[in-house]
Amino acid sequence: MEQTIRLDKYLADMGKGSRAQIKEAVRKGRIMVNGMTAKDPGMRVTASADHVKMDGEDITYALTEYYMLNKPQGVVSATEDARYRTVVDLITGRKRKDLFPVGRLDLDTEGLLLITNDGGLAHRLLAPGKHVDKVYYAECQGRVPKAAVDDFARGIRLPDGLSCLPAKLEILSVTGTEAAAVSKVLLTLREGKFHQVKRMMEAAGCPVTYLKRITMGPLSLDESLLPGQYRPLTEEETEQLKQL
Ligand code: URA
Repeated sequence: MEQTIRLDKYLADMGKGSRAQIKEAVRKGRIMVNGMTAKDPGMRVTASADHVKMDGEDITYALTEYYMLNKPQGVVSATEDARYRTVVDLITGRKRKDLFPVGRLDLDTEGLLLITNDGGLAHRLLAPGKHVDKVYYAECQGRVPKAAVDDFARGIRLPDGLSCLPAKLEILSVTGTEAAAVSKVLLTLREGKFHQVKRMMEAAGCPVTYLKRITMGPLSLDESLLPGQYRPLTEEETEQLKQL
């Protein structure tokens, strides 16, 4: 049988204010449960069966939420930050207030970021032994040497000593004259060490000037999402993640 939860927790979980604010809203008669004005913020409700309204708006309860964000540059992969907007701030339509990003992208990296409050799933996706593939698109200075493809496939050791797992490098294009050459590449990593793409490309002699993540495990960035835009995951996408 489904458990009941306190009305004030139900509303607080859905981001409708602090417990004190909800208590006040109940006192003012702003909350209805199954068509009746609620009198007690501590009354128990069943999320799937009871109808809760606040100021006339239906408040449905979501235990877990999953969003795909196209992270823009200049936004931090955190839940709070003193200086910058966070990726969670961008999810304006969220219900839950306990959302967090699954992993991190650098401040100047764009692309696919999963935002959820499903801690178990985040753990499964990020567990070091799990080796979930992530594909990055990078633009780099200079000509990426063809030998880097085989080197990366074998697994390189960075100058600072970090041994990288085998990675797939695909050189999409190399344009421009020698001094101002630009290489566009796809790099598939099975791990996520700090600044790993930037460090690997730097080691190949080509510093990254633009970086975007395009896949993470079974998830691919929805091309209709502009940087800063997000959408809930489809049921199919959530199911695929849960099978990991
Ligand atoms: N590798 C990087 O260097 N930066 C990122 O944001 C992600 C992977």
